[in-house]
Amino acid sequence: MSETELEGLSSRLEGAASTLLENPPGFFELPKTADPGPSKALAEEVRASGATDFVHVGIGGSALGPIAVQRALNHPYYNALPDRGGPRVHFAENTDPATLAAILDVADLRNTWVNVVTKSGSTAETMANFLVVRGALIEVLGEEGYAERVVFTTDPEEGYLNQISAREGMRTLHIPPNVGGRFSVLTPVGLFPAAVAGLDADALLRGAAECADEVREMGAQHPAVQGAAYHYLMDANKGRNVRVMMPYADALDRLAAWFVQLWAESLGKDGKGSTPHGAVGTTDQHSQVQLYMEGPQDKVIEIVEVEEHARDLPIPEAYADLEGVGYLGGHTMGELLNVECDATRKALTEAGRPNSTIKLGAINEENLGYLFQALEVQTAISGSLYGVNAFDQPGVEAGKQITYSRMGRPGY
Ligand code: PA5
Repeated sequence: MSETELEGLSSRLEGAASTLLENPPGFFELPKTADPGPSKALAEEVRASGATDFVHVGIGGSALGPIAVQRALNHPYYNALPDRGGPRVHFAENTDPATLAAILDVADLRNTWVNVVTKSGSTAETMANFLVVRGALIEVLGEEGYAERVVFTTDPEEGYLNQISAREGMRTLHIPPNVGGRFSVLTPVGLFPAAVAGLDADALLRGAAECADEVREMGAQHPAVQGAAYHYLMDANKGRNVRVMMPYADALDRLAAWFVQLWAESLGKDGKGSTPHGAVGTTDQHSQVQLYMEGPQDKVIEIVEVEEHARDLPIPEAYADLEGVGYLGGHTMGELLNVECDATRKALTEAGRPNSTIKLGAINEENLGYLFQALEVQTAISGSLYGVNAFDQPGVEAGKQITYSRMGRPGY
């Protein structure tokens, strides 16, 4: 990508940045407007109640952000930790009965809280999961008691959850109407489950606020905005229509899944948009990097590198006489991971395979909040460059209508 190519796009990029700043979409203002208070207070109540289990029911934008937060910031075996300080956290996302049945197998329903998250308040998958969990809770707690353990996270006005809570008295947390599902991780959608698991909701917002301030200050020069130009040109001018996000940390694999939805659902319209794909280093060096190095010239690889790993392990010295083993001793696992990250980047570059790197100092709430905001900014700016509305998803409607009709929903 030459600077001349980037300069050729600069006036459109300036225009896109001005549109974002002059007419900010709901997500951009969130770090300023969001009040994490109700999420934190309710989370405290859940934790203080001695809850053993917390079941988050939701799909798409109502699940992927919260899952990414838990995966990035909590112990990978959080649910198995004896001294975790809060309930085990389970995600009922898909309508796969095997997953939901398994959650019901392990959750102690006498002490379980359920958080039903749907902005529209009518998503079939979420409603079905809710109805099953509701039935199971009622069996244990009774019709009277069960609603005290159910929280609804939804639009303040719209949708069936508001009607149900008016009848049965569930507590509700509100998703701002001007923030769409896949942009909602820093609303109660992501903040409440984060706080239930003992994570710092304020710090997530602080990181996002820092990003928003920098974008206000730097406009089109902000790296997230520049990145939108780079990815757009790679697709539009060079036919590189696959965008691979490859974090070098297991904890960020679900961040990649969150981003895949954000990019795909926001930009895949009118025959436009590049295909996002999630990979993880080093694991996928042994699976996909062959394709990235020598396969079709249709990809851009975006590495997410973590400079300081929260935990590191020294590799003990052993087998000094075996040259293919002994050299590892005296290094650390984190060092090996980062060396492999750098090696992959160099190998890709030398092979003429475009790549970029997002560097995180460490995986923590502030950096994650910053990154969510930066990638949302990049997606919104990309929507302007592609000339599509990044905030709707008309393409998923047709399948929904057919499902409603086949499942017997009146009027469909
Ligand atoms: O980004 C979006 O808008 C979608 O992915 C939604 O989050 C998803 O369809 C779930 O919608 P809802 O929260 O209304 O149940």
